[in-house]
Amino acid sequence: MEDDHKDILEHLALLNAVYELKRKRIRFMQLASVDTELGNLTEHFYKIWDKTSKGFVLKDTVQHAKSIDIIKGLFGQHDEIITMMRGNKAILTVDKIRFYQYLVRHIANTRALHNLYNLFYGEENLSIEKLVKEQLPYLERYLPTFKKFDKIKNLQELVLTQFDVQNIWSIIEIYDRIRDNLIQDVTLYRLFTKDFTRLYREDLKLKILGYGEISTVMQTMHGSTLSQSFIKTKIAESDWVWKRMPPIDTLNDVEALKKVYHEYREILTKKIGIQVPEQQFRYFKTNGWYTVYAGQKKVNPQMVGNFLVKRLDERNAVTLFNKILAELKKWYSFNMSDSSLKVGIDGQISNWVLLSADGALNYVGENDTLLYIDTSTPLYRIDGIEQLNAELFLKNTPWFLRAIIRALFLQEVLDRYYDLRSIVIDCIANLYKEKRNDLIPAFIKAANYFFASIDESILPLTPDEIAKYYKSDAFIWRLFQFARRIDKFVTEVIFRKKYIYRLPEKIER
Ligand SMILES: Nc1ncnc2c1ncn2[C@@H]1O[C@H](COP(=O)(O)OP(=O)(O)O)[C@@H](O)[C@H]1O
Ligand SMILES: [Mg+2]
Repeated sequence: MEDDHKDILEHLALLNAVYELKRKRIRFMQLASVDTELGNLTEHFYKIWDKTSKGFVLKDTVQHAKSIDIIKGLFGQHDEIITMMRGNKAILTVDKIRFYQYLVRHIANTRALHNLYNLFYGEENLSIEKLVKEQLPYLERYLPTFKKFDKIKNLQELVLTQFDVQNIWSIIEIYDRIRDNLIQDVTLYRLFTKDFTRLYREDLKLKILGYGEISTVMQTMHGSTLSQSFIKTKIAESDWVWKRMPPIDTLNDVEALKKVYHEYREILTKKIGIQVPEQQFRYFKTNGWYTVYAGQKKVNPQMVGNFLVKRLDERNAVTLFNKILAELKKWYSFNMSDSSLKVGIDGQISNWVLLSADGALNYVGENDTLLYIDTSTPLYRIDGIEQLNAELFLKNTPWFLRAIIRALFLQEVLDRYYDLRSIVIDCIANLYKEKRNDLIPAFIKAANYFFASIDESILPLTPDEIAKYYKSDAFIWRLFQFARRIDKFVTEVIFRKKYIYRLPEKIER
């Protein structure tokens, strides 16, 4: 079972209560220090007591009430002293290795981690451990006397022994020292909680949302934050998805990819008018290469085209398809109008998401709109030059296939993203994969109407053509997926090299 460090969490919860009490003591002591009554008490301490046969009693319970308040206020109620002592002992006896391990698990930055640990147990610096060690003897010594204060209902009942009176006097003598110690202790602890809760990271769990042909789409789950009083709040699901990109060797290539990733969204949304969820880009350096994630605001997976099309009847499916075609029309017109900038798009059905105006899951309404999500292969050409370094994406391909792919179909695959007819064929052919072959004739009809309406030179589609294309496309990708598995075997088992690509689960064809 996973170790959740429950003991350390309980320890921190206790400390939280203890330091609340310590802060209360400091506030009291600071008030008392400026009070003249403390001065009086220091000067006349032995004069306020009468020694009787029962023991020491107050000479004047009215006049000296304030003095007793000051004494009592030092350490508070008896049960509060007990709690403070328990907390201090816990600090001294807690399993330091487990405490350290707990910090290691939640603090990513090593220096910050050591600083945090040293606030409690540093040997070179003033530490909470050292301060607490000084507090314990007086807390223990004064405890019995303070118990007597708690027991009495009024000051007339107060009877102290010689030992108690001497005890109280010795506290008053070191009043300032006790106060300064507490202030330092509370300050260090506050530093600890502030930095620890700010830096706290719960181990993230990843949920795989989908395997695209290029990227693995993941979502982080079960992250928690810690409030300054160590209350954990679960962040149920983050609203970002992360598309893992091929590993990249140099920072220059990473920066270049980042630039085209942002730029591509700008072009789609601002120049063409296709909606794309919000995006961000993250990368981490891992042993010599960069792991790169293209982030995107999460959309409702139920409404992603390929899931949606499985549920829709023919009429609604065609309505959805016509909406996709309308988006493609915006894109097509843009590419026709601008001479220097040409944009590539992957129109397949799994790249479109329906934003339903009335939240309906099973029909496509007139006011529903589409979002385009597949921006992690950002293709656009300026004066005929591809801005994305598509070679980067070949790194996902096994080494022994790379040269073949480059020679045979890299250019062809890239070119397809710029050609309206190819894109529409690809979109319709996906219906085989989604097991909605029944929709193909209606989609072909809609596509041919569409072509006729925007450009008469585009040849109409035929069912045979779609079937043939599907077989070839499927063939290429099946080979591709299969080869990736072989590559995993070769690199892991034979070369024992760490396999750095995520292997897609078997895609059903
Ligand atoms: N923003 C998102 N929110 C929810 N699911 C997403 C999102 N982006 C992608 N997905 C899921 O992951 C799949 C693949 O993502 P996509 O960006 O199309 O990558 P690929 O280039 O590999 O096809 C999508 O079809 C969809 O099911
Ligand atoms: Mg996709």
